[in-house]
Amino acid sequence: MSDVILSSRDLSKSYRMGGKEVRAVDKVSFDLAPGASICVVGPSGAGKSTLLQLLGGLDFPTTGNVMLDGIDIYKLSDKERARIRNKRIGFVFQFYHLLPEFSAIENVMLPAMIGRRKAKEKALDILKSVGLADRAAHRPGELSGGESQRVAIARALINDPEVLLCDEPTGNLDSATSESIYQLLSDIKSKSGAALVIVTHDDTLSKRTDSTLRLKDGRIV
Ligand SMILES: Nc1ncnc2c1ncn2[C@@H]1O[C@H](COP(=O)(O)OP(=O)(O)O)[C@@H](O)[C@H]1O
Ligand SMILES: [Mg+2]
Repeated sequence: MSDVILSSRDLSKSYRMGGKEVRAVDKVSFDLAPGASICVVGPSGAGKSTLLQLLGGLDFPTTGNVMLDGIDIYKLSDKERARIRNKRIGFVFQFYHLLPEFSAIENVMLPAMIGRRKAKEKALDILKSVGLADRAAHRPGELSGGESQRVAIARALINDPEVLLCDEPTGNLDSATSESIYQLLSDIKSKSGAALVIVTHDDTLSKRTDSTLRLKDGRIV
């Protein structure tokens, strides 16, 4: 295994807004070691979400590249990139993005690329590991914010990703619940060995990750 799981070089993303260019991400270069954690902090509009989307293969850079385990993900076909995203990257969002019609366990199973029976067993194991075995049959509408985020984290883990990308995972939660989610993410990092990228505007989190990337106006500061 290489000593860098995820990296970017001169990664930039610009938008055109009414004839004016907005550099949402401006020449960001960084390396993340396998199993390491980094938090991305900065004010609203700094480019944190755009950066995370680029790192996860969900967007296209204007210039620069993103390498996942030595693979330049934006040189891949859409299909190959989608496959890598599904298999090797987990995403966690502020508002959970759970499907309301499906139970917790079904939400967790959805991205699995294995047989249904196996997926169900695995989803239940993961729900147990995030403390939600007794909520497996509940729908998102019957879960608290903290529980919903645990389900979303479980879903992100179903394919054993090497990288977990979290965009303001506690942005919608009170401080005690936020603390328990950070604790869970830190447990996952030590147990599964997944590298973590956590976007937050909570500066205190930077003490708990291996490194910190500060963004302002799209640039590392
Ligand atoms: N789809 C888009 N179209 C135009 N501008 C965008 C788009 N997405 C983000 N931006 C702009 O890029 C900048 C960074 O946004 P974002 O990455 O969401 O920041 P953050 O997550 O740090 O709040 C902001 O100025 C935002 O308005
Ligand atoms: Mg954001």
